[in-house]
Amino acid sequence: MNIPKTMPAVQLIKYKHPFVKNTIPVPTINANEVLVAIKGAALNPVDIGIQSGKMRMIMPYKLPITVGNDFAGVIVQIGKNVTKFKVGDKVYGRPNDFKSGTLAQYIAISERGIALMPKNLDFVQAASIPLVSLTSYQALVEYGHLKHEQKVFIQAGSGGVGTIAIQIAKALGAYVATTASGKNSALVKSLGADKVIDYHTEYFADELRNYDIAFDTLGGNFLKDSFKILKAGGHVITLNGLPDYRFGVDHDLGRTRSILFEIASTHLRHLAKKYHVFYRFFIMHPSGSQLATITKFIEEGKVKPIIDKVYSYNQVFTAYDHLQSKHAPGKTVVKINV
Ligand SMILES: NC(=O)c1ccc[n+]([C@@H]2O[C@H](COP(=O)([O-])OP(=O)(O)OC[C@H]3O[C@@H](n4cnc5c(N)ncnc54)[C@H](OP(=O)(O)O)[C@@H]3O)[C@@H](O)[C@H]2O)c1
Repeated sequence: MNIPKTMPAVQLIKYKHPFVKNTIPVPTINANEVLVAIKGAALNPVDIGIQSGKMRMIMPYKLPITVGNDFAGVIVQIGKNVTKFKVGDKVYGRPNDFKSGTLAQYIAISERGIALMPKNLDFVQAASIPLVSLTSYQALVEYGHLKHEQKVFIQAGSGGVGTIAIQIAKALGAYVATTASGKNSALVKSLGADKVIDYHTEYFADELRNYDIAFDTLGGNFLKDSFKILKAGGHVITLNGLPDYRFGVDHDLGRTRSILFEIASTHLRHLAKKYHVFYRFFIMHPSGSQLATITKFIEEGKVKPIIDKVYSYNQVFTAYDHLQSKHAPGKTVVKINV
């Protein structure tokens, strides 16, 4: 296949500045990487978080970067140590932090970060899956240690993360409660939610008790009140909380920053102690092997993509405006056929 020397890409050049379209070199692969021609890329709120500069303390990117955090596409080149994949394989994945992004024509990515796409999905559907499914799987299984028949609360069930987290929790045999507005109640029920709380008229912390896991996606008071609904030994897992010392060390962010994290998260760790539960804030990480488990769930019909809107590459900035509404049910995906 003829691989061009340059490619179009959406980039962030300066924090707090709009994304721009650039022409950049096509990345070269190392021995453990594959080059993927990207066909679809999903948008995620973290892209906006990075752009705003608010995530710099925990994700210190060196700009410029290519934007985008998950993709589906076709392998067009493999490094000499690559054993699991071949040219022509349809794959999907989430790049490593600090590597090139997915709103581009090609990406060089480690074979450890990708999996074969589910056979029953097209590129757009597959592109909607990696970040939110890995996030949900890691919250529920890696950190929450979810077991069959346990009770899980998933905050914001109609969101990109929530729609997939509900399905994964059900696939693992859990009882699931979630919040959604009335207009999205039918959607989350169709995904398997056993109890739906309309967040406009009821407050989850008044309704739920004795849960094993509270998966918080909103932070703030929603996070603080998540402790109240758990039984002793339960897990509060959050995507929007405060990191602690361990987080700083695990992410090589230095001792000073880790100490600051520990101080900032004091009140959350006190709440965990008070309620005899575990507290964990995490940033999801790429994992080809976890994604292969998700592929299996999708091929077995246990998990399906929920896509709100699909845009062309030319419409990528309109697509980000849509994402920023914060009320899109499911995912926003950009077709990359440039
Ligand atoms: N730490 C990590 O690794 C990580 C990974 C993934 C995501 N995140 C973060 O997790 C958050 C959720 O991500 P996402 O992709 O799911 O976002 P999203 O798709 O943009 O969420 C939008 C959805 O949230 C619902 N929602 C908004 N406010 C709500 C409330 N108060 N109660 C219940 N539902 C509410 C909306 O429903 P209505 O229209 O009905 O309001 C809409 O369906 C974001 O802040 C994101 O940055 C972090």
